[in-house]
Amino acid sequence: MSTPLSADSPLLEPETVGDWSLRNRVWMAPLTRNRADADGTPNELQATYYAQRTGAGMIVAEGSQPSAAGQAYPNTPGVYADSHRAGWARIADAVHGNDGKIVVQLMHAGRISHTDNNGGVAPVAPSAVRAAGQIFTAAGLQDHSEPRALETGELPGIVTEYADAARLAVDAGLDGVELHAANGYLLHQFLADGVNHRTDGYGGSPENRARLVVEVAQATAAAIGAGRTGIRISPGHPFNDISEDDLSVYESLVAQLAELDLAYLHVIAEPTDPIVGKLRALWPNTFVLNTGFGLESDRDALERLVADGVADAVAVGRPFLANPDLVARWEQGAELNDPRQELFYGGGAEGYTDYPALDTAPDA
Ligand SMILES: Cc1cc2nc3c(=O)[nH]c(=O)nc-3n(C[C@H](O)[C@H](O)[C@H](O)COP(=O)(O)O)c2cc1C
Repeated sequence: MSTPLSADSPLLEPETVGDWSLRNRVWMAPLTRNRADADGTPNELQATYYAQRTGAGMIVAEGSQPSAAGQAYPNTPGVYADSHRAGWARIADAVHGNDGKIVVQLMHAGRISHTDNNGGVAPVAPSAVRAAGQIFTAAGLQDHSEPRALETGELPGIVTEYADAARLAVDAGLDGVELHAANGYLLHQFLADGVNHRTDGYGGSPENRARLVVEVAQATAAAIGAGRTGIRISPGHPFNDISEDDLSVYESLVAQLAELDLAYLHVIAEPTDPIVGKLRALWPNTFVLNTGFGLESDRDALERLVADGVADAVAVGRPFLANPDLVARWEQGAELNDPRQELFYGGGAEGYTDYPALDTAPDA
């Protein structure tokens, strides 16, 4: 138990973000849970899971592929087929039925994939550099597949995939999309000098490495409106075998994105990292911070970040996964359920929709 949050806590302040009016500043971070149907169709169980978590100011739904070739892991949702649209519509209805808000994170995995997971084709990447490490497939853990470098002429097709997926998402009734340019997936691979060895207009200088991400953001904003488009970045985060020596790409990127008037910028970084202040100064709209895997998402520390203006809102991952009513628990100073890590990825309701809410918790 801790003390209740004061009613005027900055975490509980409503906020206008892009086209949305949000009930508070505690966002649910995107969390891959591998519970979609095998063809990527979002199902009833997922609708229940998200409907349980509508106390969040905004739910950023799990990384979801805009095309079959963009899929990383088994049972992640798709955002490109009619059945996907129907599945997302069910989720949007369930969330809106509880007065929640939800965007879906568009995640093209690039080289973080295996041919067993992405429709049997070689994964694509800025350069033909295989990622170290292994990936979960139906046949167990396997090395990442060797990727194929995207031709310059193929990049407009990648941009279109994001715009089409964004249209499908909004058509299904979702509130918008978050572009996943973090954590070592395709867009991050383009930003990272250690992974992007291209010699065309999409490699080399910071402006060139940022180009594809800017084009994707422009096309998405044109498709569904800038006020329904956000983006996530993780500067310097080595996850998924990313190496980045030149972080000035983020200043170039964020300065260009600022011109587009997107709803929000979502940054994964420790709050004391100097890049946080630099990027915040370049960003005119809502700045959302997730403090990353290394720091616990602690209520009082996050409240101070918003109070001190380090961020406008915070995104919270594992505590939201384990506590459907996280914001209510924080308000009341109630105990939190512990996340069950062994049930994070795949499976059914256990460790997914069965975390007790306060009024059903045995000791509440
Ligand atoms: C099970 C799990 C799945 C995740 N899936 C995604 C994802 O799909 N997209 C993404 O950008 N980050 C993903 N992340 C990272 C989280 O959004 C968040 O950045 C991380 O968990 C750190 O925040 P926390 O300490 O509040 O959990 C995932 C993290 C976990 C634990």
